[in-house]
Formats: sequence, structure tokens, C-alpha cells
Amino acid sequence: MQVEGRDFRTIWPDRGHVSVIDQTRLPHAFETVSLRSMEDAARAIADMVVRGAPLIGAAGAYGAALAMCDDASDDGLRRACARLLATRPTAVNLRWGLERMERRLAALPASDRADAAFAEAAAIADEDAETCAAIGNHGESLIRAAFEKSGRDRVNVLTHCNAGWLATVDWGTALAPIYKAHRAGLPVHVFVDETRPRNQGASLTAWELAQEGVAHTVIVDNAGGHLMQRGEVDLCIVGSDRTTRAGDVCNKIGTYLKALAAKDCGVPFYAALPASTVDWRIVDGLRDIPIEERSPEEVTHLAGMAVDGRVERVRLTPQATPARNPAFDVTPSRLVTGLITERGVCDASAEGLASLFPAEAKA
Ligand code: MRU
Repeated sequence: MQVEGRDFRTIWPDRGHVSVIDQTRLPHAFETVSLRSMEDAARAIADMVVRGAPLIGAAGAYGAALAMCDDASDDGLRRACARLLATRPTAVNLRWGLERMERRLAALPASDRADAAFAEAAAIADEDAETCAAIGNHGESLIRAAFEKSGRDRVNVLTHCNAGWLATVDWGTALAPIYKAHRAGLPVHVFVDETRPRNQGASLTAWELAQEGVAHTVIVDNAGGHLMQRGEVDLCIVGSDRTTRAGDVCNKIGTYLKALAAKDCGVPFYAALPASTVDWRIVDGLRDIPIEERSPEEVTHLAGMAVDGRVERVRLTPQATPARNPAFDVTPSRLVTGLITERGVCDASAEGLASLFPAEAKA
């Protein structure tokens, strides 16, 4: 996608290192950072310099490639993958990317591994960009249909967190259909949940949509149900960090409440995700998806940028008040109208996913 007239992806190889957009600085500053070692990549994922399930997958792959420049032995490969995998537990794309790297590299002599690792990481990144563009094409027709059904002069889509191009290598998952619809001339307007506690909606999704010229309005997380009751939302599209083979969708905390409200109000609720986000090994999302617990300080404090450009945190709660910070929740498949994938739209069910991905579903 474009930033101030220049094409950008979120991650790219750069003179033997790897460059990424520093997402902790947005929307206040657009800055890139160079990752020079596996440890840099691991810290960038853990500190959310890069975040979003597909991007974490690509960053993990590039992290493994950087590791191969320092120690390409079997032990070096194993240790790098274990370190990278331990950075964030919920998005399954990280495991998917690292397992793919291990499969590719373990078969090669150590002397060939660094070059092959960079090539494989680049292939993962390229495929992610193509996959997300395809998700966009399939999802665009849903937005078009919702627009025609609404009888209004604009179609209102509600989204949660950031599942845009910043969360992937390019295009995004939930936002890809919106970008495709916008470029096709559909009058699309997006209600952006601010997404406490880290506010990825208010800071990242709003920034992306503004860059692309898509009409949008930021709302507090608790406003979505109210807008749906009043008929102001035509459809919801969210991303996913891990979707089970039966269609349970894990995504940013608060997604489940939006799905409940959508069900009650008869608003279609879609999750957009690539096959790399499906965990084919599990069925029951509530039981089997590990939910990341992040620092309570993200709840007790708010971060923003002061006029002098420094990021400042201000306390919201009394000093001694405890807080909990589960970062994701699981929306059971019964609340999900459909899954928008690179191969088309399917039911959120084992049969639906198997109809589009028969080989993966059988394995
Ligand atoms: O904690 P984050 O910012 O990594 O969480 C991101 C999300 O929850 C996204 O919705 C999800 O990764 C889908 S990204 C295309």
C-alpha cells in the first residue's frame, strides 16, 4: 500500500538485514527500523513493533533467516525457532511460518541455509501479499451485496482492532475487502472500534484508512452494539489470530462481544483470514487456543504522544487497583456468518473449511 505516495510493505529484506515499519510509533510518526539479528526480530514481535497474525508469521520467518547468518547448525536452527515461537502465543501464523522454515532448512547443509532461509522468508512474504489481495477480491462482493441491500448512499462496515495491511505483509485481511471496494468506487464507510487497551483501531486502522482515503469514524469499543441496534451497521468484518478447523475464531479481545451483538441484531459477521491462520490441529477454540495475557499496565495506563513527540503514558486507575489483560477472545463458530479466505467465502464450520481446503483438512 502507499504511504505519502510511496509503495510500502510492512517487512522487507534490506542489505543483509530486515526492515520493518515501527508500529509502536504510529499514527504519530512513520518510522522504519532495521532488524539485524534473530534477537532483534524476537524483540520486535514481543514488543509489538510488528504485530498482526500474518505479519508475525513473516517476521518469524525473517528472524529465522537472520539466525542462519550467525549459526546455521541444526542446534542454531532449533534454538532460533524456539526463541521466536516463545514471543507471542496466540497467532498460529508464527508457528506455521517457523515450521515451514524448519522443514525447508533442515534438509539442507548448514552452508546453504542462510541464502535459502532469506529466499523462503521472501516467498512467505510474497505469498501473504497475494493471499490477502485474493481475500480482498472475495470480500469485496460481500460489501457490494450489503451496499445494494442497504438502499442507502453508503455501506457501513464495522471492524475491530487492526486487520489491515499493517497486520499483514500487504493489503490486510479484514480491511482488504474494504480497500478493494473503495478502489472499485463503492461508497464504503468504516466504523473503527478503538480497541482498548492498545488501541490498534484508533491508532493503526484509522491511520491506514486515512492514508487510503476511506471514510471512517472511530468509536469506543462499547458503541458497536448500540449502532447495530439502530441499523447503522450493514456488516462486520474482523481478522483472526487463530481459527480452528471447525471455524471457531480467535481474535483481539472484544471481538466476541461484537459477534454477540451482531447475532442479536441480524447483522452479518465475517472473519477474514488466510489458510495460514487456520490451526488444523484443533477443533474447540475455547478449550485449545492459548490466550496471551499481557501486562496489566496496558489497562491501568493510556499511551499517547505529547506535543514534543515523546510517547507518554498516563495512569487511569488508582495506584493499587489490580488489572487483567487477556489480549484475545474466541468467537464460537455459531456466531460467525462466514469466513473470507483466499479461496473464497465459506461457512464457519469443518465442512465449510474442508470444501475450500480439502488437503489441509484431511492432513
Ligand atoms: O495484538 P495484535 O495487534 O497482534 O492483534 C492483532 C489482531 O487481533 C488482528 O485482528 C489479527 O491479527 C488479524 S490480522 C490480519
